[in-house]
Amino acid sequence: MVSGMTQSHPRISKAVIPAAGLGTRFLPATKATPKEMLPVVDKPAIQYVVEEAASAGLDDVLMITGRNKRPLEDHFDRNYELESALQKKGDAGRLAKVQESSDLATMHYVRQGDPKGLGHAVLCAAPHVGHEPFAVLLGDDLIDPRDPLLKRMVDVHEQYGGSVIALMEVEPEQIHLYGCAAVEVTEDADVVKVTGLVEKPDPADAPSNYAIIGRYVLDPHVFDILRTTEPGRGGEIQLTDALQQLADDEKIGGPVHGVVFKGRRYDTGDRGDYLRAIVRLACEREDLGPDFRTWLRSYVTEEM
Ligand code: UTP
Repeated sequence: MVSGMTQSHPRISKAVIPAAGLGTRFLPATKATPKEMLPVVDKPAIQYVVEEAASAGLDDVLMITGRNKRPLEDHFDRNYELESALQKKGDAGRLAKVQESSDLATMHYVRQGDPKGLGHAVLCAAPHVGHEPFAVLLGDDLIDPRDPLLKRMVDVHEQYGGSVIALMEVEPEQIHLYGCAAVEVTEDADVVKVTGLVEKPDPADAPSNYAIIGRYVLDPHVFDILRTTEPGRGGEIQLTDALQQLADDEKIGGPVHGVVFKGRRYDTGDRGDYLRAIVRLACEREDLGPDFRTWLRSYVTEEM
């Protein structure tokens, strides 16, 4: 029996979206444009992430940004010039598209002066978040809107308390690309208890093939831990190292549970995954899909 099963914990309302990374895997596109603004079909990747937060009931969103990230703020703000031009033309469809992103959530921004790692980015949220549990959604991790992971994590947090991370099973030879969790089963088929965490392990040292993906519900004690977390792998302050401490001590911010996600997820900071996301989402769109699928079929049969 897992502790906390019958307790009810406060629902969370704040989402933090770290988007201050340099995006070096996507150069030169990301030299002057944030990688989060790269379009996935016709919407910037980051808009899917904010939509996910809003549809899980989190309408207070703090984005962690940095230099070169101004377009992120502009995208979620009103654009009166464009709106009035579309109004004059009577183009209600496009006007709605312009207004969509500024109506999603109450947006706040803070800059991470130096991108010293994901743990450091999350720590920048401390003054805004205060002493409540909160969600973290990585700005370059896209979860298909039809597979509502964050909502499930919020429910699991309400049931178990502590912190909740998202896990996905990967091939053993892929685990060195992710944080990895050692786990125990619980009564819920899609929930595990996390007993240990290691960042980007060699396959031989990995405690499982459960990879950590970019959604978290965190207890605010994580801030106290991050304040004293030394730079770890890659010289960066690692969120995984702080989560390990939460998992170690149930009385301070723990326990840590994992929701095992089996849905569709894309790392839009990776070029291959970015292309897969676009092709898949374009194929499934009602407006673009039929033509695009016909073209794709003939491209694959005739030219590959
Ligand atoms: P990544 O390591 O995927 O992002 O960080 P990156 O550093 O931008 O990418 P590459 O490897 O150079 O291409 C995961 C998430 O954490 C954020 C990133 O913006 C991304 O959403 N992050 C990372 C920060 O906000 N600050 C940091 O110091 C590091």
